[in-house]
Amino acid sequence: MNAEPPPTAKQPPAWRGWLVFLVVLVGTFLLGALAVSVLERREEARIPPPLMPIAAMEVDSAKWAVNYPREYDSYLRTKDDTTKTKYGGGNPRDLLAETPENVILFAGYGFAKQYRQARGHVYAIEDVTKTARVGPTTVATCWTCKSPDVVRLMADLGPEEFYKQKFDALKGEITHPIGCLDCHDPATMALRVSRPALREAFQRQGRDIDQASHQEMRSLVCAQCHVEYYFRGQGNYLTFPWDEGTSPEQMQAYYDAQDFADWTHAVSGARMVKMQHPDYEVYSAGIHAYRNVACADCHMPYKTEGGAKFTDHHVQSPLLNIANSCAVCHRWGEEEIRDRVEAIQDKVREGRGRAETVLARAHLDIAAAKQAGATDAELDGVRKLVRQAQLRWDYVAANNGMGIHAPEECMRILGAAVDLGGQCRVECARILARHGVSEPIRYPDFSTKEKAQSLLKSFLDGSPPKLLPEKTPST
Ligand code: HEC
Ligand code: HEC
Ligand code: HEC
Ligand code: HEC
Repeated sequence: MNAEPPPTAKQPPAWRGWLVFLVVLVGTFLLGALAVSVLERREEARIPPPLMPIAAMEVDSAKWAVNYPREYDSYLRTKDDTTKTKYGGGNPRDLLAETPENVILFAGYGFAKQYRQARGHVYAIEDVTKTARVGPTTVATCWTCKSPDVVRLMADLGPEEFYKQKFDALKGEITHPIGCLDCHDPATMALRVSRPALREAFQRQGRDIDQASHQEMRSLVCAQCHVEYYFRGQGNYLTFPWDEGTSPEQMQAYYDAQDFADWTHAVSGARMVKMQHPDYEVYSAGIHAYRNVACADCHMPYKTEGGAKFTDHHVQSPLLNIANSCAVCHRWGEEEIRDRVEAIQDKVREGRGRAETVLARAHLDIAAAKQAGATDAELDGVRKLVRQAQLRWDYVAANNGMGIHAPEECMRILGAAVDLGGQCRVECARILARHGVSEPIRYPDFSTKEKAQSLLKSFLDGSPPKLLPEKTPST
């Protein structure tokens, strides 16, 4: 009669089943998590730690070679400065001879004196000490991206003190070119950010660089140096202008907000910003960054030697090593890949050339307006326009690789540069007209580096050529 089931010991209460289920569930999850972490560790620990200990501040890359002869030998090959591709390679081509407009664009600034294409990393010390751009007033901040000695000195002095020194004062201290200590932690060999400016730029954006993934680090070690930067304030504190973002518009907004200028233009009187070499910024806007392909994937591909697989430390143009750099992902033939790259670069070069012509003329138009009697107040607007236009052009021009790191973005920006430069010139024509000049102005000849430099000299000496047409009413 009693419908209640008899209590039997064989029937465990329901909660016990759930408990077993839960334990198994948690266990499975933990095991999975362990497996993932093991895999991640393996990925991180792929670099064998040194057998012979390396000193914490070992600045001499040759000392690291005892442990890592293959990496060291390939690193030494950055000595080859004879290589040449259509737009790059290790040879120090003269960018002023190739593009005399550069002399006008950089009038009054060091880059009008000498501007050469970068060579390999082992030349960093030699090239910075020899360039005509360095003089007695040069500050130590210029050493920052040249040497592992900087890592040691910053540890001793602190970055702030380091940046306050004069360039010449540290000449005896800084002797080793870019090397192992710049990118690796000598205890673990892990990739490491050794330069404070990159770390600080991340902090100001609210990002923690220590959380960067292994793949991101394969680009971030390069981003310590291959970026746009400026020297902030009296102490020349090395700073990346990334607070608003890394596009040229955002960097311009940053610079405009603090009314920053690298120099005042010797022809137009505009307050200018020099873009340094925003390689990481441009790369970030391209398809490869979007697909998580790192600088090292193309510039430091894997290499096999005697059965051992290692990272090729011969950092160079990937077009000199297409088989390892590109063909691992792209199943096109080597020739096809080179043709494809050059076709893209040719187009960017053409766009760049158009911007250069417009910009050189814009500077001269402003100089002409001044000769016609325009006041600084009248010229304020056109000077701002030429500053904005040239910052954009330079973002593309100073970036290495002739636009290949982000072709669409580079063409967009060159379009904006031509547009702003054109606006500047139209406005100059109006100003000239107000001052009675309606005929075309007389552009001097700057078709070679020599002609451009002697034209520049006449501006610097205060005796520029007369730019106004013959029948101008005298002012
Ligand atoms: C998808 C492959 C790829 C990636 C990723 C890549 N680059 Fe490049 N890079 C190239 C190619 C191709 C060139 C053009 C080389 C030439 O014209 O000879 C180039 C050119 C350069 C050059 C000039 C070399 C020369 O000899 O002219 C520098 C410097 C450079 N890249 C730095 C970087 C940095 C820094 C990063 C990461 C922020 C990066 N690249 C990411 C493919 C890549
Ligand atoms: C410009 C930055 C940079 C410099 C300078 C540099 N490395 Fe590397 N190194 C890398 C990158 C990137 C990797 C790839 C790391 C990875 O993906 O785990 C690497 C990997 C390695 C590895 C791991 C094994 C391998 O070959 O993949 C060793 C060992 C190593 N480097 C030794 C050296 C030594 C020795 C020097 C100095 C002669 C040096 N590196 C200089 C960036 C650099
Ligand atoms: C400590 C600063 C620093 C770091 C880190 C650094 N570079 Fe450089 N890089 C330079 C300087 C400076 C030059 C120019 C050297 C010269 O012309 O004397 C240069 C030159 C180059 C060149 C031109 C060489 C040629 O043959 O065309 C390439 C390519 C290059 N770097 C790529 C990279 C890549 C990729 C990384 C990251 C894996 C990287 N660099 C990390 C400072 C650095
Ligand atoms: C690690 C893999 C990887 C490497 C290495 C690599 N790429 Fe790519 N590349 C990609 C991916 C992914 C895309 C995006 C398009 C796609 O998904 O197929 C791409 C896109 C491109 C495109 C654009 C194609 C288009 O549709 O517009 C070009 C050009 C290109 N790569 C050239 C190169 C060159 C040159 C090199 C060597 C210097 C290189 N890539 C190295 C993965 C790679």
